Amino acid sequence: MPLTEQINEIRNRFSEDAAGISTGALSFEDVRVKYLGRKGLVVGLFSQMDSVSSEDRPALGSQLNSLKSEISEQLENHVAGSDDSGSATLSIDCTLPGNPILSGSIHPLTQVLNEIKSIFKQIGFSLAYGPEVDTDFYNFEALNISKHHPARDMQDTFYLSPETLLRTHTSGSQIHFMEDHEPPVRIISPGRVYRNEDISVRSYCLFHQIEGLYVDKTVTFADLKGTLDYFAKQLYGKNVKTRFRPSYFPFTEPSAEMDVSCIFCKGKGCNICKYAGWLEILGCGMVDPEVFKSVGYDPEGWNGYAFGMGIERMAMLKYGVKDIRMFYEGDVRFLDQF
Ligand code: PHE
Repeated sequence: MPLTEQINEIRNRFSEDAAGISTGALSFEDVRVKYLGRKGLVVGLFSQMDSVSSEDRPALGSQLNSLKSEISEQLENHVAGSDDSGSATLSIDCTLPGNPILSGSIHPLTQVLNEIKSIFKQIGFSLAYGPEVDTDFYNFEALNISKHHPARDMQDTFYLSPETLLRTHTSGSQIHFMEDHEPPVRIISPGRVYRNEDISVRSYCLFHQIEGLYVDKTVTFADLKGTLDYFAKQLYGKNVKTRFRPSYFPFTEPSAEMDVSCIFCKGKGCNICKYAGWLEILGCGMVDPEVFKSVGYDPEGWNGYAFGMGIERMAMLKYGVKDIRMFYEGDVRFLDQF
C-alpha cells in the first residue's frame, strides 16, 4: 500500500481508538504507545521514508509530520479534557489515597543549640570545638582537678585507657583554645559529653553541653552576671528573672549556679520547679588563676569568666519534655512535634 494511503488509514484507525478512550473501552496509555511509542505505528511509517523517491520525499515527509502532531495534539486534549470533566478516561484510579509526603524536621536539640549559638554570636562570641576523646590532662588536670581531687567523683568517667577518656564536660575546650590562642578570648564551645551514670528520665550516658569563656584585662563578676542574664532573657523571654547562688567548681573562683524563674509557673511554684519557683540552668564563675597558669596565661595580667550548660536541660525546659531519653530514641512521633 502506498505511503499516502497508509497515512490516511492510520489517521482513521486513530480516530476510532480515540473514541475508545472516551468511552473507557481503551486505555489512554495503550493508545499512546500504539501510535507514538518507540515501536508505534507512526514511527513505523517514518522508517518507510528510506524507500521513498527523492522527489516524493518532501511532500510525504510533511504529511507524516502533520499526522504525528495531530495525534499528539488529540492525545493531549484527552488528558486536558479528562482533567476538566473529572471522568476517568485515563487508567488512573482517582479515588486511591495519595502517597503521603513526609517532611523532616530539625532535631529539638539542634534547634535549641542553634538558638543559643545565635544569641552569643550577636554579642561577639565565636565558635570553637574541642575533641570528644580527650586526655586526663585536658578534662581534669589543667582544670585544677588533680588526680585524687574529690571533684572527679562528681563526674563518672568512661576511661579508654589510663590517660585517655571520653570527655565528661566541655570545659576541656577552654584549655585547648587557650593553649592555641593569645588572649583576649571570647568563645562558646558546644559538643557532646559522656558520663557513666545510670540511665533515667533525668540522665543519659551522653548529652550535650555548651561552654563559654571570656578572657580580657578587666573582666568582672558583674560582666558575667550581665551577660548571662541577657542570655536567659533572650532565650526564655524578657520577663524571666535570674539569680546566682554560690557554688563550687575547681576551675572557677568564685563559682556560682544560675537559676531562672520557673518558665512554667512564672515563679509561683509548680511540680516542674518542685514548688521552688526557680530552675537551675547553668554553672559559672571567674576563671581560677590555676587554670591560667596551666595554659601559660599570666594570672596577674588577665582575668575572665566561664560558664557551662546542658543543652538537653535547656531543651527540656523550653519544650516541656519530661524524659531526656526521648531525644535519643529517634521516634518520629516525638520528633514531628518540633
Ligand atoms: N563543667 C561544669 C559542669 O559540667 C560546668 C561549668 C563550666 C561550671 C564552666 C563553671 C564554668 O558541670
